[in-house]
Amino acid sequence: MVSRVIPVDPFDLVIFGGTGDLARRKILPGLYRRFRAGQMPEGARIIGAARSEMDAEGYRQLISAAIAEFGGTEAEDQASLAAFLGGLDYVTIDATGDGGWKDLAALMSRDVVRAFYFSVAPALFGALAERLHAHGIANDQSRIVVEKPFGRDLASARSLNQTLAAHFDEHQIYRIDHYLGKETVQNLMAVRFGNVLFEPLWNNHYVDHIQITVAETVGVGGRGSYYDKSGAMRDMVQNHLMQLLCLIAMEPPSHFDADAVRDEKLKVIRALQPLDPHHVVRGQYDASTESPSYREDAENARSFTESFVAMKCHIANWRWAGVPFYLRTGKRLKARSSEIAVVFQDLGHSIFEGDEARHRNILSIRLQPNEGMDLQVTIKEPGPGGMRLIDVPLDMTFADALGDDAGDVTDAYERLIMDVIRGNQTLFMRGDEVEAAWAWTDPIIAGWEARNDVPKHYDTGSNGPEDAMMLMHRDGRRWREIKG
Ligand code: BG6
Repeated sequence: MVSRVIPVDPFDLVIFGGTGDLARRKILPGLYRRFRAGQMPEGARIIGAARSEMDAEGYRQLISAAIAEFGGTEAEDQASLAAFLGGLDYVTIDATGDGGWKDLAALMSRDVVRAFYFSVAPALFGALAERLHAHGIANDQSRIVVEKPFGRDLASARSLNQTLAAHFDEHQIYRIDHYLGKETVQNLMAVRFGNVLFEPLWNNHYVDHIQITVAETVGVGGRGSYYDKSGAMRDMVQNHLMQLLCLIAMEPPSHFDADAVRDEKLKVIRALQPLDPHHVVRGQYDASTESPSYREDAENARSFTESFVAMKCHIANWRWAGVPFYLRTGKRLKARSSEIAVVFQDLGHSIFEGDEARHRNILSIRLQPNEGMDLQVTIKEPGPGGMRLIDVPLDMTFADALGDDAGDVTDAYERLIMDVIRGNQTLFMRGDEVEAAWAWTDPIIAGWEARNDVPKHYDTGSNGPEDAMMLMHRDGRRWREIKG
């Protein structure tokens, strides 16, 4: 199978924070991969902008080293690496002062798509937006890209939205949630809305419940001071898990267009019932023989911040009334595994008896690792011995189904950056979505703070706290196994 590369127009991409961690780990290596895939148009230019004093050559060396470290085997192709680095430029800039802005303006004289990636602390968004306009660098066609955390509650998110709105229209603002750039997440829409099979069953008549798990093995060491002020609810649920929930639960948009899709996602968030405090479990990981505890990682011996959260939510609309959505995410769990599972109801009547009557269909959508989907179906166990039934997966692991092409599953960042250049906002969060998500999570977090809620302990390498298991067991259900 030959991959199809959608061309993009020539562009100037300015990365503020161009020497930072995200730029070196994700943005530049991702852009290089797109370059290698032939997706960078002739004359595309990437301009790093940061406080450090260096010239374009110094920046090329920095990025060359970053690509060697984070770019995988593609970095070994010296000729294409040199060609890519040739398209890089650099400006030393003072985000809150005057230094460097004239130099940047002088570089930006071409009539091409202009995109500005704000890979900096949100406190600098306002200053950057203001200066881009004051120096005539941004125009009506320009786009800005911003990263999470987009606020830490509704009030701060609203204020960030207002800051950006003072200088840019909503159609120019690209709020990244990198989960939306993951291959399987997009496939979720393809599967739901491109097949006749699933949509008729996608409701409370046929679905028993839905589970969303994002499990990680890493701890918070190295970023403990950020994380300790955030916790799993702000760091993962308010954005990534809620976006997954929206895509699985939304009504079919009338067409595949950015605002049509985002309108439907917004309706899901607004239909979420306030969370019952008895339906949420928070946890904090303990030390193991090999790794420190959460409190050690966070360097806060009295921390009440959660590194794990599990919850049962309900969406109050006709499609989903009565169907629980169980969500969980945590650090230092048993395996790195992210999955959405749609667990269908039992048969209304089974013609089989005893154990043979107890089989269920489950559609599992694996985000990572082994991206793909499988549908658990019931069949007869082959061979003699009567009608014994077993569950087998109809497996569509992308790597198997797509052969060589799947090896090149595009990283979320590179896909999203190319969408910015193309002007496609479908996979980006709209301001009202972000605010609605905070409006739902704020009271939950406020409740914990008011009660001084103490997270339950859990072992490193486990499934999370015992209470999270009970959350399901009480309903006569069980979590799916976390396996990598
Ligand atoms: C980030 C969170 O947004 O997503 C991190 O801040 C988390 O805490 C990461 O580890 C997970 O992303 P991925 O793509 O590795 O699942």
